[in-house]
Amino acid sequence: MATKENSVNLVLRNGRVIDPALGLDAVVDVLIENGSIAEVSAEIELGAEKLSQFEQIDASGKWIVPGLIDMHVHLREPGEEYKETISSGTQAAAAGGFTSVACMPNTHPVNDCAAVTQYILEKAREEGSCRVFPVGAISRGIEGKNIAEYGELRAAGAAAVSDDGRPVMNSLLMRRALEYAKTFDLLVISHCEDLDLSSAGLMNEGPVSTRLGMRGIPRAAEEVMVARDILLAELTGSRLHLAHISTAGSVALIREGKNRGVHVSAETAPHYFTLNEELVCSFDPVYKVNPPLRRAEDVEAIKAALDDGTLDVIASDHAPHTSVEKDLEFEYAANGMIGLESSLPLILRLIREGVLTPLEAVAKVSHNPARILAIPFGTLRKGVAADLTLIDPEVKYTIDVNRFKSKSRNCPFDGMEVQGRAVMTLVGGRVVFSAS
Ligand code: DOR
Repeated sequence: MATKENSVNLVLRNGRVIDPALGLDAVVDVLIENGSIAEVSAEIELGAEKLSQFEQIDASGKWIVPGLIDMHVHLREPGEEYKETISSGTQAAAAGGFTSVACMPNTHPVNDCAAVTQYILEKAREEGSCRVFPVGAISRGIEGKNIAEYGELRAAGAAAVSDDGRPVMNSLLMRRALEYAKTFDLLVISHCEDLDLSSAGLMNEGPVSTRLGMRGIPRAAEEVMVARDILLAELTGSRLHLAHISTAGSVALIREGKNRGVHVSAETAPHYFTLNEELVCSFDPVYKVNPPLRRAEDVEAIKAALDDGTLDVIASDHAPHTSVEKDLEFEYAANGMIGLESSLPLILRLIREGVLTPLEAVAKVSHNPARILAIPFGTLRKGVAADLTLIDPEVKYTIDVNRFKSKSRNCPFDGMEVQGRAVMTLVGGRVVFSAS
């Protein structure tokens, strides 16, 4: 597909536009003028004068969706640039079809102050291939002891606060965080884990962990914190988002909380609807992640919760580690998997399995994260920045980590046969990725 790099005046012809915010699923044209959406309709006519200024792209057979948004990514910069940088991580994002990512604060130093937030934003402006929304820390140093300065973080550009990577164990601190965040209209993203229950666990607790002789992490380690945080969101009336949900019990609690009217949203990651704990029998540390891969029943419950809307968002929890941290005995390996360049085909699989409609799938990875983060993207409505992703839904290929833009290789989906991928990613009308 021929493109003019950095073009901001474009017409995409005959693509299947799938935009849940507009309730639109139809084959139409998309006109991008000066980097913004100017029109979405059938057979857009360009006068002779405009024709010369607008590049035309034939999108027939392709899907055109609002740019994908991954609201849970670890970019590792500052501090662990050998694993990933803002440059490499956003290149990986663009190649995976993402136009925006929210990056977690467990960097070195932790993003718990304006200086680090500003650093990330500046680096993203200079070197980024997509938009970057820094998430500030809930507590200073993500130590769970003292609340960070949310006013300062908000003013510097933080989109939300989270201690992701670690839970906030102290319930009073979590209550104060929710109250304090509310005064700045900041979203609180919770990593739900009771550290006393998860203790030194390595995988999901159950018959498989017993058989392998590995210390287990009970599902309750996640669920007690999901329950606590829903109660605290109810108490404070604050905006709460639950990260990387992995169990049937968590899903039941969220469903019940939402039915009660609590202002809570939740995400899961592709590994929790695609993989289960049996894979740990290989002792391959690529399957080590926190929360851990769960039972087959949990995988089914996660899919059902995506289907019925209990889970609003699919986010990758892209967690790059090099072989230094990963290629060790299971016990000593770091937790985490990369996902920016494998999420989309796994989400498309949910459509083919009948779990999600195309409109629902796009909502989980574009419209809903935009709404939850309160950022003005996730739609192709006239006037918004032209962030969009062109998807070839038919192409079949094998995931190959060696072709990834990410600096890390810890992807459990390496070698998997999949269907569908991003072929072009546009941010503000600019082509930031184009498949060759
Ligand atoms: O597996 C994980 N890796 N879970 C987390 O919560 C943190 C992440 C990381 O930062 O590596």
